[in-house]
Amino acid sequence: MNVVVFASRKGGSGKSTLVAHLGSYMAANARPTLLIDADPQGSLALWQRVRGAQDLPLHVGTKHLAATLAKARRAGAEWVLIDTPPSAEAPVAEAIWHADLVVIPMRPGLFDVDAVQATIQLCRELKKPYAVVINAAPAKNGSEDPMVADARGAMQTLEIPTWGGQITHRPELSLFLAHGAGVNEFSVGSAGSEEIGSLWRALTRSFEAIEAMTGKQPQSA
Ligand SMILES: Nc1ncnc2c1ncn2[C@@H]1O[C@H](COP(=O)(O)OP(=O)(O)OP(=O)(O)O)[C@@H](O)[C@H]1O
Ligand SMILES: [Mg+2]
Repeated sequence: MNVVVFASRKGGSGKSTLVAHLGSYMAANARPTLLIDADPQGSLALWQRVRGAQDLPLHVGTKHLAATLAKARRAGAEWVLIDTPPSAEAPVAEAIWHADLVVIPMRPGLFDVDAVQATIQLCRELKKPYAVVINAAPAKNGSEDPMVADARGAMQTLEIPTWGGQITHRPELSLFLAHGAGVNEFSVGSAGSEEIGSLWRALTRSFEAIEAMTGKQPQSA
């Protein structure tokens, strides 16, 4: 079972958005997935209520996380996606403590690049693998937008592992969430859907790499 925690001290970086779209993608690909909304703002829980489907079980809150994960494992979950609040405080630290991998969504901007440091510090203290995912990026126009290239350069200088792809800023990513859906459900084969699929494949590869290092059994995509 792959436990992925989405964390960033920076509000609005895209934690809940990525969890919802990835969750929907996993459900569509018949990968048993548990969502955990560990953010009192309850964005993910709201999305799931609007969705109204049974394909993505949801646990709300940070209490009894260990027991919730143990139950999910027994029930055959392959993926657990945990959405967290925009902080680097105790509930986030607890979620990260349970993570196999921490995804840190980051918009490409100076303040955003600066704000990821606190979360990375936490991952390093807890010795957890992590990767930055550039989100809400300007669309590629042949090559990567200079803002994205700058952000990537900063990550490289700071030796912060960063996904080579990007999730582009697309209004439909917000729109579909308002309908309780993921981009793959409303817009099959679209560029947005391809990007979410590509992120999922990258996560799967990361787990294969983690398995090679630790002996943990990965789930195939
Ligand atoms: N790639 C994207 N394209 C378009 N809109 C996006 C994208 N990513 C996020 N958004 C929008 O940006 C806003 C913030 O995103 P989201 O709520 O996912 O961030 P968050 O990190 O969960 O925020 P918080 O820290 O407050 O929980 C939302 O309105 C969301 O729809
Ligand atoms: Mg959120």
